[in-house]
Amino acid sequence: MGFSKVSKAIAGFLPVLLFLSTILNLAGPAKADNPIIQTLYSADPAPLIYNNRVYLFTGHDEDGSKDFDMRDWRLFSSSDMANWQDHGIVMNLATFSWASSRAWAGQVIARNNKFYYYVPVQQKSGAMAIGVAVSDNILGPYKDALGKPLVANNEIDPTVYIDDNGQAYLYWGNPNLWYAKLNSDMVSLNGNPVQVSLTTAGFGARRSGANSRPTSYEEGPWIYKRGSLWYLVYAANCCSEDIRYSTGPSITGPWTYRGVVMATAGASFTNHPAVIDFNGSSYFFYHNGALPGGSGYTRSVAVEKFSYNSDGTIPTLSMTTAGAPMIGTLNPYVRQEAETIAFSSGLKTEVCSEGGLAVSYINNNDYIKVKGVAFGTGAKTFSARVASGGSGGKIELYDLDDRVVSHQWGNGDAGPVLEVYGRGVGVFV
Ligand SMILES: *[C@@H]1O[C@H](CO)[C@@H](O)[C@H](O)[C@H]1NC(C)=O
Repeated sequence: MGFSKVSKAIAGFLPVLLFLSTILNLAGPAKADNPIIQTLYSADPAPLIYNNRVYLFTGHDEDGSKDFDMRDWRLFSSSDMANWQDHGIVMNLATFSWASSRAWAGQVIARNNKFYYYVPVQQKSGAMAIGVAVSDNILGPYKDALGKPLVANNEIDPTVYIDDNGQAYLYWGNPNLWYAKLNSDMVSLNGNPVQVSLTTAGFGARRSGANSRPTSYEEGPWIYKRGSLWYLVYAANCCSEDIRYSTGPSITGPWTYRGVVMATAGASFTNHPAVIDFNGSSYFFYHNGALPGGSGYTRSVAVEKFSYNSDGTIPTLSMTTAGAPMIGTLNPYVRQEAETIAFSSGLKTEVCSEGGLAVSYINNNDYIKVKGVAFGTGAKTFSARVASGGSGGKIELYDLDDRVVSHQWGNGDAGPVLEVYGRGVGVFV
């Protein structure tokens, strides 16, 4: 039976919940799967596929931010593009002793049986620099590889890729665009950074009324290869930004401007692209301000599935609340962590004293939706690991039409075993 862990509820709040569902057919936001993280504001998506799972690294906008107040980097993962497991904080500003603030847009790459995380941060001197952290485990902990910046030219937004011949490249930059070769140790540069010549043939003309720069290129590059073509996707025009891209015959270009991937939309004046292929389909990650309280400083990561045109060009994509379709199903007969969420409302996650994460800050009517749960011929019991810092609480499981079950427990209760009737349950707390 599905097994979920939820502990350390806040005094006076209701602890716990967990749900199992096939398809939710409820009105309102429960139908949405975008934004794909609801327990905090997230930005600057950087997915990495590893062991048939999408690991989504993001930045984190503090609640109520009125500026880019970003202090740590977060990780989520999914094997189905709909239910995302929260892995918590993988790195924060304190990881870099020479950094003072601005835990901004980074990217992780795997090599040498390690994971390398390139991020821009503000140095104590005030200038921006790019640091690199390393971990033996994709989940972290990530440690500063150098004890100093990898590159310090007061520019931001690193993206990294390993070319077919094994040569790794780092691209980055705002307002300019730079690249450098990385040595195979991934933590040192091979040669000096090269500044890319920004021409309108390569990067398009800036929208009139936008800030004055030579081309549409603004920031947030994401580089990758598909077939024999290299793609450089980036935030363009400021502000508000849209997403544009260029292609080239090699990782160093020359670049040809290809147009808009995603128009300006969605309550955030920045956007930030990432593109992956997973399970035979292509996905575009971005951010907007679509959560309640969302804005240019309280952003949320979202994803859309897309197909390349036959000539390799990328279609123009819109922001949706539906998000990407689910791949396969979720198995409720093995333990699933409570922090595996297709959509939720009102909740946070926190480090659990027993290890991993717990869902917390649960109030009346908060819920988690878990999507595409394969109950097979039906389930008889539901187990959840729960705790209350207050006077206990109640879990309700919902299906497509009716509430299926409620259970009450008190403080110190070891946790409920719930009877779940019926099958094909859509869920909800
Ligand atoms: C995609 O995922 C489904 C369900 O897990 C699996 O059966 C299928 O083989 C996968 N396809 C590809 C191309 O990886």
